[in-house]
Amino acid sequence: MNIAFDSRNLMATVAGREHGLQATELRAGTQLAKKSLKGFHASWSKGLYGFPGLPTQTATIKEIRKYAKLTAGKFDTICVVGIGGSALGAWAVDCAMRGPHPVQPAFTTNNPRLVILDNVDPSFVMGALKSMNPKRTLVVPIAKSGATAETVAALLIARGWLEASLGKRAGEHIAVVTSEGRGDLKLLASQNRYPTFHLPDNVGGRFSVLSAVGLLPAALTGVDIERMCKGAAQMTNRAWSEDLAKNTPLSAALAHYLIWTKRSKPIQVAFPYSNRLWGMAFWFRQLWAESLGKRTDRSGAVVQTGQTPIAALGTTDQHSQVQLYMEGPNDKVFSFWTVKNQPDPGRIPSKKTGFEAMDYLCGQTLEKLLDAERRSTEAALSENSRPNCTYTLDRIDAEHIGALFQLLEFQTAFAGEMLNINAFDQEGVELGKKFTFGLMGRKGFSDYKKRFASYQSKRG
Ligand code: PA5
Repeated sequence: MNIAFDSRNLMATVAGREHGLQATELRAGTQLAKKSLKGFHASWSKGLYGFPGLPTQTATIKEIRKYAKLTAGKFDTICVVGIGGSALGAWAVDCAMRGPHPVQPAFTTNNPRLVILDNVDPSFVMGALKSMNPKRTLVVPIAKSGATAETVAALLIARGWLEASLGKRAGEHIAVVTSEGRGDLKLLASQNRYPTFHLPDNVGGRFSVLSAVGLLPAALTGVDIERMCKGAAQMTNRAWSEDLAKNTPLSAALAHYLIWTKRSKPIQVAFPYSNRLWGMAFWFRQLWAESLGKRTDRSGAVVQTGQTPIAALGTTDQHSQVQLYMEGPNDKVFSFWTVKNQPDPGRIPSKKTGFEAMDYLCGQTLEKLLDAERRSTEAALSENSRPNCTYTLDRIDAEHIGALFQLLEFQTAFAGEMLNINAFDQEGVELGKKFTFGLMGRKGFSDYKKRFASYQSKRG
């Protein structure tokens, strides 16, 4: 496994004095990095946060593989019902490992497609059900809380859809992922004896991709989850290293923290030059936003911190976003994600056309063009004093994908330590959820219905 982080274009020598970092600042930051590592390691040792241990949960991995083996060949569709941290990881894995939609190979019971119901837009949910055959579909509701309105609503519809077609056998088409000791989804699963997989209490949704939340859908669609966890475990070892030069997540966290806070870059553009990493960019967007966007620090002081993550795809978004990135406000740091070895370089035929705008490309490869486009965009941004950095994956396979998840999770946790905030809660999403419960008539939320009415009255 090899993932490199290159921060040279964040430095003043490349990005200029006003927007780039000085080597002395990086050196001075080493103490903060070490403190962050120590702080997070202490919390992990106390059992407060569980994601670092997920790659070595061999019993869970074994249990999931056993179930995947048992159901292999029965379903041509795996329908995940979940949202946020309970959905984005599954999409990121599917997109990386089996190719971006809609260019995946034909779906069969030996190669089931993954459908993720992560919204309650009726045209999406009802349209998705129409596109699936209940006899060949396994519905996989995933919710840590077991009570997320969107997930519960879509599950009830999907379950009704299975029952209408399969009657009592509907239960054979449902497998659940939820918390072990709590939540109504857990109760529903126990009552109906649905096969159930648990995620540890100390693992939050956006940090849960290497628990059953991400591993079950992956295994059901044929991904080698053992190798994925092997890569993640290797990255975990790196993340605990006190040698900053060897600790990729810690050095990446420090570089991002410094450029963001010392050079005022409140926006980070995650810029994969790979369609296979497009799902990962959306997974990362949630991880970085929900973990680091906080009102208060750990002492309770109001800090209203956060760096807005944007997902952009190279080269596609060069033709959509780069004008703004080059000439608009210099308030962004760019994180390029690139892949060194493509399985098929995509050779362009060498037969010439006689046209100048075409013939220089003849005989070359898409791999070379993609690489040239990225390096050119990096150079153009750098020349314009726009700091940027690059993550390079040796290749895309289960090992590297597992390692990248773990790298970005550790990077986020370390950045949270540097900011002195709690990166693992998400109080900010609660109020909107409670208003929805009030509006939809959930017991215990009538006060929120009234509060909503008071807001409404202000609108006239
Ligand atoms: O990261 C998080 O904690 C959230 O994004 C959750 O994953 C999301 O709100 C879904 O929660 P649940 O799994 O309880 O349905």
